[in-house]
Amino acid sequence: MMKNTRVLSLENISKRFGSVVANNSVNIDLYRGEVLALLGENGAGKTTLMNMLFGHYIPDSGSIDVLSYEGQMEPLTLGHPQASLDAGIGMVHQHFTLAENLSVLENILLGSEKIWAWRHNRSNARDKITKIMNRTGLSAPLDEEVGKLTVGERQRVEILKALYQEVKILVLDEPTAVLTPQEADTLFENITAMTKDGLSVIFISHKLREVLAFSNRIAVLRHGKKVGEIPTSEANERVIARMMVGEETIENPRKKMKIGSPVLQLNGVSSKGDSTRTSLNRTNLTIHKHEIVGVAGVSGNGQSVLAKLISGLAEPDSGELLIDGKNIKYFSPKEMQSLGVGRIPEDRHHDGVISAMSVAENLIIERLHDKDVNNKGFLQNKSIKKNAEELIEKYDIRGPGIDANTALLSGGNIQKLILARVFECMPNLILANQPTRGLDLGAANEVARRLLEARTRGAGILLISEDLDEILELSDRIMVIHDGSLTEAIDVSREAIGLMMAGEKA
Ligand SMILES: Nc1ncnc2c1ncn2[C@@H]1O[C@H](COP(=O)(O)OP(=O)(O)OP(=O)(O)O)[C@@H](O)[C@H]1O
Ligand SMILES: [Mg+2]
Repeated sequence: MMKNTRVLSLENISKRFGSVVANNSVNIDLYRGEVLALLGENGAGKTTLMNMLFGHYIPDSGSIDVLSYEGQMEPLTLGHPQASLDAGIGMVHQHFTLAENLSVLENILLGSEKIWAWRHNRSNARDKITKIMNRTGLSAPLDEEVGKLTVGERQRVEILKALYQEVKILVLDEPTAVLTPQEADTLFENITAMTKDGLSVIFISHKLREVLAFSNRIAVLRHGKKVGEIPTSEANERVIARMMVGEETIENPRKKMKIGSPVLQLNGVSSKGDSTRTSLNRTNLTIHKHEIVGVAGVSGNGQSVLAKLISGLAEPDSGELLIDGKNIKYFSPKEMQSLGVGRIPEDRHHDGVISAMSVAENLIIERLHDKDVNNKGFLQNKSIKKNAEELIEKYDIRGPGIDANTALLSGGNIQKLILARVFECMPNLILANQPTRGLDLGAANEVARRLLEARTRGAGILLISEDLDEILELSDRIMVIHDGSLTEAIDVSREAIGLMMAGEKA
């Protein structure tokens, strides 16, 4: 590998948003053929830094140099995404940026081809994408509308789109947050192969296992500052955790518990849901008080219908669903909420928060009928503010303040906001759908701690997650979902569950 040619150099980059210092004099170099992992707690400034590289934000100070096609380091024109693209920098964003009403193929072409050329170039483009898919092991249905894809599939399209543009420097902001462990491994193996052809990669991740397995070098940000940089060969989980939070993290103590009465029963439930493609077939599932049941599976195998049923967003076509022994006839989110169902949605930006509303408002959004929040149609600003201040403190939600738009919070901090809202309602049944996706170590531990706390209190928890380590760590029982069917895992080893996820019969 040609490790010594520098391809990118960020020099003294600083960026502030009001009172928040998102980046503070950050220096980072990147070499040809290298995979650099950028780590740090939620809100540490990782996405902001990469957005400046990509021209979405202009730094308050500092400069960026990129190796030109002629072989010289040249200053990048800042604040111009097109200049970054022209310089060969591609970015896959933490949050999806695809056009939902266009097909996968059209989305991949968007931005790199002239619209009039689409028709002529389609078959060429299709060949080129198919080649990339074969080489990387990333697959996506090219003619499907993006709006119909699962989150996992959308993420693959985002990556394919960047690869299609033949970038020299690829930035991936939490690319595997929505992939299965196997898909993630495949992705990285193929990225590693592409670095042999000279691609340089910066990836942001909270998953230390993949960082240790697939990066060459690790840089860590804390409160906007670069606090460390080491070759991966000299790193281990402990070292990185200490760099990130300045102290070691605590593991969750976990006791065996006696289960109580059922809080959720699905008896032979079949459901098509609505727009999702995998329906649920004659599903049986029981969750008791004091129990966490984990559902492992590759995204797109029926998880979303299962989650929608329990959220009141879909109905069974046959079979029955009981909550606390009560047979549910009328399905709506409000009904489910009034029955004590708390929900941590999979897509926090779409279903979790209203980004145009303030942090304080989002924290009371499910309590709009409570007197202390809404008195005869008048919002009680004082108590809304007090509520927000308490919860921000209790759940360690960091950001530009309670009156700021929720859109301005980092991914992890939005998740903390949702958790605060759910856990404060003391639900009997918690639907935790990818609850730690994109969270840093500390925040993920905090979610685990709170789920275990709810279990101790007597809640039943349905944990849907693509992170097998998380399922193994937290679940009392494990079910595997494949092609719309749920099967209980008797052998709970990583390997056995991985095979069931791939559709092999136990
Ligand atoms: N446009 C903005 N306006 C105001 N504050 C912002 C804006 N963008 C980011 N911030 C703040 O800057 C800080 C850094 O955010 P950033 O998104 O870079 O964090 P991150 O390291 O990517 O976190 P995560 O791991 O949660 O994605 C956060 O406190 C965030 O709330
Ligand atoms: Mg981020």
